[in-house]
Amino acid sequence: MGERGVAAAGDDQCSRRFSMKQEHVAIAEPRARQVASQPVPAIWNCLNEVIRSRHSIRAYRDKPVTAGVIREILETSSYAPSGANAQPWRVHLLGQSAIHRVEQAVIATEVPPHRAVSENFKYYPDRFLEPYKSRRSEIGAALYQTLGIGRRDVQRMRSQFMKNYRFFGAPVGLIVTMSRHLETGMFLDLGMFLQNVMLCARAKGLDTCVQAAFAPYDQAIRNAIPIPEDEFVVCGMAVGHRDPASLENRLQSPRAPLESWLTSHVENAEESICDLQTGKR
Ligand SMILES: Cc1cc2nc3c(=O)[nH]c(=O)nc-3n(C[C@H](O)[C@H](O)[C@H](O)COP(=O)(O)O)c2cc1C
Repeated sequence: MGERGVAAAGDDQCSRRFSMKQEHVAIAEPRARQVASQPVPAIWNCLNEVIRSRHSIRAYRDKPVTAGVIREILETSSYAPSGANAQPWRVHLLGQSAIHRVEQAVIATEVPPHRAVSENFKYYPDRFLEPYKSRRSEIGAALYQTLGIGRRDVQRMRSQFMKNYRFFGAPVGLIVTMSRHLETGMFLDLGMFLQNVMLCARAKGLDTCVQAAFAPYDQAIRNAIPIPEDEFVVCGMAVGHRDPASLENRLQSPRAPLESWLTSHVENAEESICDLQTGKR
């Protein structure tokens, strides 16, 4: 494929975004394939730290992030796997002016988030069953408790939620879109890409919060930033430096123990897998 990638000729915005200098299939040198074929404790330790230090951050410092760092993060993140190597992620990078326009456009709809519905896809079920129901209410209650917002203080809960639309004060906002011509399975690919973005951001000393809250406001967001007709908004993501003093960033979300979600079908010790506890065959 040539320099222009798959962009339609004449569509300036698209062609700029789709231009990929090196989009061709290459076979790696054997040497490159051997790298890290043995466990590397230092890498494991770093990765463990990066993964476990990622939290959804909902208050940011007024400290800029350079465009170069964001580009580095996004470029490395694009090494995420994707079905058929389709690389379905599309990212709209927003600075302060665009963030302000997006927030105003969402407010102008006068549709409160609890009534807003995405025309493109459904993220949450209408009714959560256990254990999801409890997890959802527990994390919500914990956030509001951390902030000193009472159980019945609907007004404060809503204004806290509305902070989503200014990306919680982050200097950078991402609006992540996907082509309408792809299928829902490709949300998997997007998820892998997004996790990469969040981990790369951590490695650069930055924090993030992925935000499905934007999805129902697809149309309003288009009034604030140009988004090609054949793309739809999947989510947003705040990127910036966490405000260590803010209460909302004290929230630590718990995880269910491994035994509650792992089902092992390993039947005997001869199979090519180690015992999870002892590491022995
Ligand atoms: C796809 C996705 C969408 C999310 N949307 C929002 C959102 O709109 N607003 C928000 O404050 N948090 C949002 N979150 C953050 C979750 O609440 C958070 O990941 C979860 O509570 C676990 O906490 P942690 O990210 O700190 O580990 C979203 C997370 C994911 C993965």
